[in-house]
Amino acid sequence: MPAPHAPALFTFEFAADPYPAYAWLREHAPVHRTTLPSGVDAWLVTRYADARQALADARLSKDPAHHSEQAHRSGRVGIPGERSADLMTHLLNIDPPDHTRLRRLVSKAFTPRRVAEFEPRVQQLTDRLIDSFAARGSADLIHEFAFPLPIHAICDLLGVPAEDQDDFRDWAGMMIRHGGGPRGGVARAVKRMRTYLAELIHRKRAALTAEPQPGEDLISGLIRASDHGEHLTENEAAAMAFILLFAGFETTVNLIGNGTYALLRNPGQRALLQASLRAGDTALLAGAVEELLRYDGPVELATWRFATTPLTIGGTAIPAGDPVLVVLAAADRDPARFDGPDTLDLARRDNPHLGFGHGIHYCLGAPLARLEAQAALATLLTRLPDLGLAAAPEDLRWRGGLIMRGLRELPVRFTPE
Ligand code: HEM
Repeated sequence: MPAPHAPALFTFEFAADPYPAYAWLREHAPVHRTTLPSGVDAWLVTRYADARQALADARLSKDPAHHSEQAHRSGRVGIPGERSADLMTHLLNIDPPDHTRLRRLVSKAFTPRRVAEFEPRVQQLTDRLIDSFAARGSADLIHEFAFPLPIHAICDLLGVPAEDQDDFRDWAGMMIRHGGGPRGGVARAVKRMRTYLAELIHRKRAALTAEPQPGEDLISGLIRASDHGEHLTENEAAAMAFILLFAGFETTVNLIGNGTYALLRNPGQRALLQASLRAGDTALLAGAVEELLRYDGPVELATWRFATTPLTIGGTAIPAGDPVLVVLAAADRDPARFDGPDTLDLARRDNPHLGFGHGIHYCLGAPLARLEAQAALATLLTRLPDLGLAAAPEDLRWRGGLIMRGLRELPVRFTPE
């Protein structure tokens, strides 16, 4: 039974700082049933131990067909427009054995080696973006840096030709602008992306030679990937390319945005990181990105899960068919798991955060996200060492969609290069 006076969730104030509300929920109503802004009822899981267990619980399905309300049909659950655009067969909507098969196939194409080889390109993109505003002495780091970097990176990796990437930038912009608001804009962008990806996959399939070529792009790798003679169907390849774009874009925008903001608000920690970078030591940088994921990670709630059978989480009974949302941002500030959870400690040693999820749906793009965030933060702090906020924190506006949370803009100033 939730305690009385539960804090208001999903308001503007909540989007600006949800952590006090999450602390209240962890303490008084750790598994809390609420009505979401879309009108759908769901359970929020906020304690670390419950969250980690729920993320790995096979009785919680990712398939919206298990939702008792069938709200997915009306577009109120999941990614807007994915059903009408015939993009449902992606990793975040399916369970084993289909999930196992598709994840094995994509893992053959999206390898850690492919990501590592991509590092020089990410560095080049990062430098070019900073070049575009470095002489000015001020910038909006969301629009001019955090937003374009991941979209061009993922387009390059997938093999979207340079001349088409501006279209992706527009569609991605529509998704980000409409993320927390009317869903029509996102659905339109998803549909256009779907049409484009189907054509691109078709062209790439026709262009494939018998043997993999050096530097082959990820879409060609996806078409080629096979497991015991099984290949991705054209529809599965399109859904896979779509989820890589969708999952790999706004998340990374917000990791760079939230991460830079947290560093600017914590000058002592930022100075530590800057000193270690000056000394050519990258050990702190890797841990810093993990701590920023824990402290203010971009994925606030994990994606939808549905109880396939009546079950109990943290002592609370959940009926079959109910949606369960694991609140990663609340779990990652649980004092039962993290010492001083509200303190940013870039050198934190024991940090098993849930920012990339846990279990079989653990983020497939984590190596790429880490690469981009490390390049972005290290290059910003090295090239613009006196970077400072150019707005009062209380004037900054936060974009609070259901799943992701990030800044709408991040105005900064610095000595021009
Ligand atoms: C900072 C950046 C990122 C964060 C914080 C993040 C976070 C997450 C989380 C929490 C999940 C699990 C969701 C759940 O269980 O409900 C996930 C899954 C996933 N992520 Fe990421 N992600 C990031 C970047 C990326 C990138 C760059 C890509 C790809 C290019 C990507 C691709 C995926 C995919 C395909 C899945 C689904 C995996 C599956 O269901 O098996 N992500 N991500």
